[in-house]
Amino acid sequence: MEYFKVADKNELTKGNKKKVTLGDKEILIINLDDQYYAVDNLCPHMGGSLFEGTIKDGQLVCPRHGSVFDIKTGKVMEAGSILFIKVKVDNLHSYPVKIEGTDLYVGIG
Ligand code: FES
Repeated sequence: MEYFKVADKNELTKGNKKKVTLGDKEILIINLDDQYYAVDNLCPHMGGSLFEGTIKDGQLVCPRHGSVFDIKTGKVMEAGSILFIKVKVDNLHSYPVKIEGTDLYVGIG
C-alpha cells in the first residue's frame, strides 16, 4: 500500500470534506469530529459526487438520489430512491488515513 499526502489538518476543520484525485480515483476526505476518513467520492449508483452531498449524524447522503453511507466504513445504510422506487447501490470503498504532524495521508492499493 502506498500513502499519498492529501491535505493539511488545518484546512479540513470539523464537519468539512475535501475531494482529491489520486490516479484514476476520486477520493473524499472527511473530518468527522476530528477523526479523518476517506471514501470514494463517486456514488456507486450513478456516480453522484458525494462531495456535493450532506453529512448527517455521521453519515453521508448522496445528492442525487439520497443513498446514505456510513462515513467510517463506506457501508450503505439506506438505499436512495427514484420516484419512490429504491435504487440498488453498492458500498463505497473506504481507504486508510494516516496522520503525520498536520499532514493527512491516504493509502491506496
Ligand atoms: S447517484 Fe447516488 S444514489 Fe443515485
